[in-house]
Amino acid sequence: MGFPINRPRRLRTSETVRALVRETDLQADRLIYPLFAVPGRDVVEPVAAMPGVEHRSVDRLVERAREIYGLGIRAVLLFGLPESKDERGSEAAARDGTVQQAVRALKDALPDLLVITDVCLCAYTTHGHCGILTADGRIDNDATLEQLARVAVSHAEAGADWVAPSDMMDGRVGAIRHALDEAGYTDTAILSYAVKYASAFYGPFREAAHSAPAFGDRRTHQMDPANVREALKEVALDIEEGADLVMVKPALAYLDVIRAVRQQFPVPVVAYNVSGEYSMVKAAAERGWVDERAVVLESLTAMRRAGADAIITYHAPDVARWLGN
Ligand code: PBG
Repeated sequence: MGFPINRPRRLRTSETVRALVRETDLQADRLIYPLFAVPGRDVVEPVAAMPGVEHRSVDRLVERAREIYGLGIRAVLLFGLPESKDERGSEAAARDGTVQQAVRALKDALPDLLVITDVCLCAYTTHGHCGILTADGRIDNDATLEQLARVAVSHAEAGADWVAPSDMMDGRVGAIRHALDEAGYTDTAILSYAVKYASAFYGPFREAAHSAPAFGDRRTHQMDPANVREALKEVALDIEEGADLVMVKPALAYLDVIRAVRQQFPVPVVAYNVSGEYSMVKAAAERGWVDERAVVLESLTAMRRAGADAIITYHAPDVARWLGN
């Protein structure tokens, strides 16, 4: 040939070399595992569209939390299902609601487990919308803020370390920060679902949370998948209002958004590897069409490479096991 060839393959010759030069790592302590608490005792019910995910009553939830903690997972994102729903989602802020009880039980059993709560109304309202409705069926943004702030304070009071508002109402981070501070919860951090797209990938979750809207959709508050400048604006506003961390959701179809947020803002970025992303992999793996472990590790590594500091994922226990924790 007579000319020198540049040989990047020299740095791929063995796992020792590859590990030395690897640019991105993935560890269990970067993962946040979602848990679903339901009313009752001794309840463990599989969620059909999400193999491996379950509804658990508080007593059985603690048991699951111990298992995943033992695997090296240090953070959970808690969702709750109410005993009963109403127009305003009142039970979401109940002192003794399912989530509030679950937070107390989890912090009691595992004080070092970071407990993050999802703050939204959609699982608590009869109409399944994320806010309080006006007479003509639209979401009343500002009336919803008061209710969300009450919900967040009730979670903090129960002992939640962080609250994660997922409703996408304008001004909710500021309203929640103000209410938390007034109530004395100045140490409770806000992980804002700052960039939440109106995504078809939430389908299986809505079965899990019984939170599908009874009419209409979420496109008047969740973002248009076509937009990225708007995502940067949402993040800027949430940081201004007091968000400590920001989330991009979903993850896999939005790696460019994760990257853009990472590059422009100094706060930690959390990616939410959502239900539809999980169920697609599970379904294909069940049929033997993909190698589940390889596909999951590749996807989560890609989210980290794009700039996610932490990842919320239903795969967390499997990943922790695969990584040998
Ligand atoms: C509640 C909420 C949703 C998800 C997290 N919080 C559903 C929605 O907005 O419709 C989706 C999570 C997932 O799909 O895994 N507002």
